[in-house]
Amino acid sequence: MALKKVYLATFGCQMNVDDSERLAWLLARQGYAPADAPEAADLIVLNTCSVRAKAEQKAYSLLGRFKRLKSPSRRPIIALAGCIAQQEAGNLLARFDHLDLVLGTGALGRLPGLIQRAEAGQRVVDVGLDRELPECLRPPLGAMPVRSQVTIMQGCDNFCAYCVVPYLRGRERSRPPGEVLAEVEARLAAGAREVNLLGQNVNSYRYEDWDFVRLLKAVSARPGLLRLRFTTSHPKDLTPALMACFDRLDNLCPSLHLPFQSGSDRILKLMGRGYTRADYLSLVARLRAVRPDLALSADVIVGFPGESEADFGQTLDLIERVRFDGLFSFRYSDRPRVRAAGLPDKVSPETAARRLVILQERQKEISLAFNRALEGRACQILVEGPARRGGLLTGRTAEGKVVNFPGPAGLAGRLVQVTIERAWTNSLRGRLGQDRMTNQLLQDPRA
Ligand code: SAH
Ligand code: SF4
Ligand code: F3S
Repeated sequence: MALKKVYLATFGCQMNVDDSERLAWLLARQGYAPADAPEAADLIVLNTCSVRAKAEQKAYSLLGRFKRLKSPSRRPIIALAGCIAQQEAGNLLARFDHLDLVLGTGALGRLPGLIQRAEAGQRVVDVGLDRELPECLRPPLGAMPVRSQVTIMQGCDNFCAYCVVPYLRGRERSRPPGEVLAEVEARLAAGAREVNLLGQNVNSYRYEDWDFVRLLKAVSARPGLLRLRFTTSHPKDLTPALMACFDRLDNLCPSLHLPFQSGSDRILKLMGRGYTRADYLSLVARLRAVRPDLALSADVIVGFPGESEADFGQTLDLIERVRFDGLFSFRYSDRPRVRAAGLPDKVSPETAARRLVILQERQKEISLAFNRALEGRACQILVEGPARRGGLLTGRTAEGKVVNFPGPAGLAGRLVQVTIERAWTNSLRGRLGQDRMTNQLLQDPRA
């Protein structure tokens, strides 16, 4: 029998990327090989995100385009998975008559049975949130990428006023440490060299008497793990013990994603974030005292309901004070059920768009300045493999910056020295080896 083919499109955060990887594994067990294009697929899965209105529109527009793939002679199964599936459930089947399967964020473990029902011609909805992550990670299929991610917890209990995630991913559930460690080991055995521990709020990981710091230390000690990172951290839960890990754990990279969302205390309060701008700035100062070369990135929202020019000015001021290496900035959009949707004084789309441009332009200058400061310096790069273009290799610095450089393919998975020749806002170009002059700077390439 010819192998069935699946086309998988993923939107959204790293949790969704991880879910898609699990989906691919589970489907492979049911005889599905990857398809290069939706036209060639017997099963099409859109793994969707609902965090902002724009993400939702993008998924619907792609789903709409798949309608034409169904004809009397060819009827691929079309499935919508992820956060929009969780949000809209059965409404989706009524709205899109070419849709066969709606897979909520908790339905992954039940995928085999659900697919069988869809293959038998049923239209199926499963949005139960009760189940744990499926155990599908024993022998991975083929080699692992050098950079790998491991989900350690699901869901979120914070209910920030703007955010739909707690409604779509449910309450916080931490995975048993034994399972996390086994998955890390399986990935290392299959070729991974860097692991990113994932969760909406990893700092609040708790499983019996294991907290996040204990888990981080245990993962860090796994043989063969060259680099360790974690995302996302919530400022209100970043403990001194966790900050100290940046000094103590050799393979913990000097990079931290610490969303601040707004620089204005008034807006932070409306958002329900549980910290002030002073708290945030003090965390940054303490982190940099522990690890001066720490590269910080963050998420920020502009145009939250009631945000005045003065509030926005506070956000701009915060990015000047902190100087993030990178920033993910978003225009606020109303989401179903969230508290902020009912707040007065909505900011006009024009004002929010203008603020976003100002913020992004300024951040571009800051990011470029950080990258330019690396020109001529030697950095330690973990090689990931061939770059997308130009016959180059690609890898990252310990701080997480992308570097492309010429070199032999066999270097994938190894740490090499690369001298940075040219810097742009989002990437760097270098050459293998290092100048004797800059040798000493290897200790602290940002000094
Ligand atoms: N758990 C992570 C990330 C959640 S979603 C955290 O707590 O930081 C990723 C980012 O999307 C958020 O950090 C926030 O900046 C943005 N976001 C969430 N809801 C939004 C909304 N309604 N409008 C605009 N941006 C939003
Ligand atoms: Fe959303 Fe806040 Fe939870 Fe992050 S911490 S997922 S922003 S509710
Ligand atoms: Fe999007 Fe769901 Fe992640 S809403 S950001 S895919 S948790």
